[in-house]
Amino acid sequence: MALLDKFAAAAAIRDQLQAGGHDPTQVVIERIISPTEGIVDGRHTILAGTNNYLGLTFDPACVEAAQKAVQQQGTGTTGSRMANGSFASHTALEQELADFFGTTYGMVFSTGYAANLGTLTALLKPGDAVLLDADAHASLYDGCQMSGADIFRFRHNDVGSLEKRLQRLAERAQDCLIITEGLYSVLGDCAPLVEIVRLKKQYGAMLLVDEAHSLGVYGDRGCGVAQAQGVMDQVDFFVGTFSKSLGAMGGFCVSPHAELELIRYVSRPFIFTASSSPSIIASTHEALRQLKTRPELREALWRNARRLYEGFKSHGFEVGPEVSPVIAVCLGQKEVALPFWNRLLEKGVYTNLMIPPASPDRHSYIRCSVSAAHTEQQVEQIIEAFVGANSVRE
Ligand SMILES: Cc1ncc(COP(=O)(O)O)c(C=O)c1O
Repeated sequence: MALLDKFAAAAAIRDQLQAGGHDPTQVVIERIISPTEGIVDGRHTILAGTNNYLGLTFDPACVEAAQKAVQQQGTGTTGSRMANGSFASHTALEQELADFFGTTYGMVFSTGYAANLGTLTALLKPGDAVLLDADAHASLYDGCQMSGADIFRFRHNDVGSLEKRLQRLAERAQDCLIITEGLYSVLGDCAPLVEIVRLKKQYGAMLLVDEAHSLGVYGDRGCGVAQAQGVMDQVDFFVGTFSKSLGAMGGFCVSPHAELELIRYVSRPFIFTASSSPSIIASTHEALRQLKTRPELREALWRNARRLYEGFKSHGFEVGPEVSPVIAVCLGQKEVALPFWNRLLEKGVYTNLMIPPASPDRHSYIRCSVSAAHTEQQVEQIIEAFVGANSVRE
């Protein structure tokens, strides 16, 4: 019995969340209608928290590519690539991703989480030093921790704090890895990569950038924040996911370093799990093609992001300092944020609730992710729902 006692804490969290109405961790979309609409609790609901940045989940060409792959290659690979072999489509996608990032080597993993675990556990070993942004995603932290490396966290997006850590590392700095994201997924702010690259070069360190939320969103070709800031050729490892702008599931790492190919031989999260199904690889491949050839998707995304951001600001909501497709409205205490999130859902708008300890600065936020597929009318409805939810509070 004692083994199960530890769940008392989880039960207390669940009870607290459910006392507010819906449990934000257990929302069921009874029917998905489009990239931006679903049925929740029998109610037509606008999806404003799904990371579907380019709205490609229902794109006819992506759907057709997935269907064709199922028919021609079956529903799954039934094993890991090391033991059971790769399908030609896995290796083709790896090459395509490397080319897209203007680099040489590419590896595909079964999820974005596995890409970070798989890359970092192979890249780092006990005794290595890693400098990790304080707000970095759990998968980056978990990968560092599993590797046994010494983790030093620097203040979020704070170049001064990073430099202090580098100075303190003394000669270890030249063997260390700096880890940052491109666009941060909670507050929607971007890493100061130009400054981080300057430090990386000055101290002889290496740099890994996770572009999970910025792929397809930033840069003139949609590669991410490093491209937007003109420092792509200074990044040693890019990681990312297929589960956001590419509308599927899976992850990748690309790099100019030939050693990336050797990660295949030593990375447990790559070796000991089944490879992505042919349909996933096929729709990802097609989504990447869409991302490259349809800049209008990115334009629509940014138009919607600007409108939502300005709309929130004009109604006095506290939003981050820069417009981005991730817009977090700060509501302070979780006792305010939880009922606010429930009211939004009752008004037919699904968003993400971020409360401590999972949110930065001990504040609570309602996070929206904008999609190119949101219509102007849906963006206005999201703003109206926020205003309505706020008027109950006042
Ligand atoms: C920055 C970052 N990296 C990695 C991941 C993991 O990606 P996936 O959900 O595709 O496994 C996420 C997911 O939210 C993320 O935000």
